[in-house]
Amino acid sequence: MSDMMQVVAIDGPSGGGKSTVSRGLANRLNFTYLDTGAMYRAVAYACWEKKVEPGDGEELKQLLSELVIELLPAMNGENDVQVLVNGREVGSHLRTPEMGMLASQVSAIPVVRSHLTQLQQQMGKAGRIVAEGRDTGTVVFPKAAWKFFLDAKPEIRMRRRADQLRSQGADVDEQQLLAQIIKRDKDDSERAIAPLKQATEAVYLDSSDKDAEKIISLMYDHILNSGHAL
Ligand code: DC
Repeated sequence: MSDMMQVVAIDGPSGGGKSTVSRGLANRLNFTYLDTGAMYRAVAYACWEKKVEPGDGEELKQLLSELVIELLPAMNGENDVQVLVNGREVGSHLRTPEMGMLASQVSAIPVVRSHLTQLQQQMGKAGRIVAEGRDTGTVVFPKAAWKFFLDAKPEIRMRRRADQLRSQGADVDEQQLLAQIIKRDKDDSERAIAPLKQATEAVYLDSSDKDAEKIISLMYDHILNSGHAL
């Protein structure tokens, strides 16, 4: 138990409520929130902006070597962390379904995964973080003291995403959004490196009929009763 890290790892498919829950849990524990998906989205955005084909090895390596990603706490009243790519706030460009698809694509590339995994391990090495993503419990922080897998039915996940996008003023085609969510989860689960999967020790939670507060309380109680020091 002594080599366990004071890290909460929350993995699961898109739209399961990971971001809201991770942020809320981090507040409750007074831990730092680490949104690893935002980092994959930042790489996707940089590729898109610089017109680098994700498959292009040398160009992509060059892009990664020059890329500075900073995650800052959300502004007052905002939900999502601020993401700075090479010093520029680009958060609002990252949350679209299209950038999610591109992030999923770049996240399957080995050089991207190893680069971001190292950065995430560096950011989390002092512990006291809540990390969310697809592989935080399996690959990035295998020694995390607390691991959860947060799931929900695809239709419910689609509805949450649709509400979120509409609240940002976007037009939403629900059938198309559902198809995108299913495809992204399939691709994320079937890729060769660090696929989306439940860590053996992770606690499985389904948020289909539970709100974020309920899930946060379940996680918090589990952490308090786990026997690992906070
Ligand atoms: O959590 P998100 O929707 O912002 O993640 C966007 C994409 O990034 C997701 O489809 C797969 C990838 N990702 C990943 O491969 N590993 C992570 N730890 C987090 C995200």
